[in-house]
Amino acid sequence: MSQHPETLSWHGTLDGHVRMIEQTLLPTEHRVIEVSTVEDMIGAIRRLAVRGAPAIGVAAAYGVVLGIQHLHEAHRDEVLAAAENACDQLATSRPTAVNLFWALERMRTKAKSLHGEGATGADLCQALLEEAQGIHLSDRDTCRRIGEHGAALLKKDQAILTHCNAGALATGGMGTALAPVYVATEQGKNIRVYADETRPLLQGARITAWELSEAGIDVTVITDGMAARVMGEGRIDCVIVGSDRITRGGDVCNKIGTYGVAIAARHHGLPFYVAAPLSTVDPKLLDGKDIPIEERNPEEIISGLGRRITPEGSKIYNPAFDVTPRELVTAIITEVGVIENPSQKKMEAALKGAGICF
Ligand code: MRU
Repeated sequence: MSQHPETLSWHGTLDGHVRMIEQTLLPTEHRVIEVSTVEDMIGAIRRLAVRGAPAIGVAAAYGVVLGIQHLHEAHRDEVLAAAENACDQLATSRPTAVNLFWALERMRTKAKSLHGEGATGADLCQALLEEAQGIHLSDRDTCRRIGEHGAALLKKDQAILTHCNAGALATGGMGTALAPVYVATEQGKNIRVYADETRPLLQGARITAWELSEAGIDVTVITDGMAARVMGEGRIDCVIVGSDRITRGGDVCNKIGTYGVAIAARHHGLPFYVAAPLSTVDPKLLDGKDIPIEERNPEEIISGLGRRITPEGSKIYNPAFDVTPRELVTAIITEVGVIENPSQKKMEAALKGAGICF
């Protein structure tokens, strides 16, 4: 199998920069851009040049480094202030994927603890680069483990349906929802994928189909409205999606349209799996209704196919995510194992096991 595309990476030492695939241009153009300032990183996250919950977390962590890298000769107070300022700014980039806030919290905690220990400004800067690289590296390992747990649920010659893109391009590794597909493929299971196109920004058609084709995996794109029909035709064995935020009660927020897919899966008696790292679980929230849902620019719906597609004056509503209640979730596949029929008790046990406070 070909290597997975490198979604983003840090180039150079402390005075380096981030390189990332400009995902808005896929699949027709594969361009790598350089991001060198906090403002540019916020812009890249907002316009979805880099997207997908874990990848946004990694990007934000590197964003903090971009905000302090020029301060290696400054006093630690100045570095801490700049790091906190960068965290505050990056936290405004997108509201829903909790991995962003999780990664920023890690960076903030690192800065504060070293500052408290009396580290020099130079040491603080270097430690923040290493912390961001650590977040990136561990995501690779986390994805692999999600893939291994998920692949155990897949049998030879099965077809999965996925929504949006929760593959390599959404993470620092091989993906979350697509990781079981990649690992099962390595195991010779011959897995096929149906990719919902995922209106309005077409992450399924543009990105999932691209990365699976590049990896030599059999992928079929369908429009979002076809999912129930395709399930009814008996073409699908299970659904696997990623997530942007999972509550401590087990409700799952993911790309708009996921909730409908879960309802259709339940109607057809198909397993509906969510693959996500524990960094996607928001320990503070119990109920899915409390998850902040990003509302995006109406222009994303008004224009498509290279032209205006809605009549002048028609109202537009553009929520980017929805919440699937835990009752519709067969299991959550995490790096520490599979949580079947997720409940508050089971989610809390998983968090406790991983040393996460709530
Ligand atoms: O708006 P996007 O493209 O960032 O939305 C991405 C998703 O909804 C993914 O399914 C989710 O972040 C999981 S990525 C491993």
